[in-house]
Amino acid sequence: MLTTLKLTPAIDASTAQFLSQHYVISASASWQLDCVDGVFHLQHTEHPALNLAIDFGTGKYRHRNHYLGKEPLVNAIKIKGKLPQALLDATPGLLQDSFMLAGRGVQITAIERHPLLYVMVNRALARISAQTNEQHHTQTPPHIDYRFGDANTLVKDFATPCIYLDPMYPPRQKKALVKKSMQVLHATVGDDADSDTLLINAQKNNARIIVKRPSYAPPLANCPPDLTYQSKTTRFDIYLPQNS
Ligand SMILES: C[S@@+](CC[C@H](N)C(=O)[O-])C[C@H]1O[C@@H](n2cnc3c(N)ncnc32)[C@H](O)[C@@H]1O
Repeated sequence: MLTTLKLTPAIDASTAQFLSQHYVISASASWQLDCVDGVFHLQHTEHPALNLAIDFGTGKYRHRNHYLGKEPLVNAIKIKGKLPQALLDATPGLLQDSFMLAGRGVQITAIERHPLLYVMVNRALARISAQTNEQHHTQTPPHIDYRFGDANTLVKDFATPCIYLDPMYPPRQKKALVKKSMQVLHATVGDDADSDTLLINAQKNNARIIVKRPSYAPPLANCPPDLTYQSKTTRFDIYLPQNS
């Protein structure tokens, strides 16, 4: 888990101030945050190929939002064939899943506890919203209420029909090729070793809970789901509301 961070002069004062409350800011840190054309870039100082930038207007984000292809998550969260109106994302990470759902009209509230990811995603959301407004796109800005903090409290009683959990995957025995963005997440965010507790807290809420798991892993907290939805490499464990 990342504790020390280098900031380039391109990082604005308010971002630097926020990050200095959570990291030791040092010129000799192994990870550096830079800002290029308004996008934050995180990069390993000795292994530059290990880098991460979040831009909702490009790549996979754009693809998943513009080309409404088949999405296992969409099928897993549908209730009686319809997407829920709203969803609480308690593990937003790079916000890939929630951004895709917001593009399909789901009102998203997302709460991220990792300060650096929060800063990078928050900047990317502000940027895409400004671009959308400037260009008078037909695409409306995504409906995302994005917050900083630990979701453990919010999941217990936030009024929502659905809670989505996608904690970091547990390590695998067999070494598998992992996407670069996930390698960076593992190196900087760590393991989410407390994710069992997040499910137990979410179960206090009268909401449908959808948990994304790798096929090889047991359910969170060893709690058997009411339903499962299996896609190629991913399993979605679904817990129905207590009073349904
Ligand atoms: C695997 S990533 C999620 C990826 C995400 N579904 C996406 O589409 O990009 C897991 C994220 O959940 C966050 N997280 C885990 N437990 C959390 C908690 N209790 N509160 C807030 N964020 C949490 C981690 O910091 C990490 O960024």
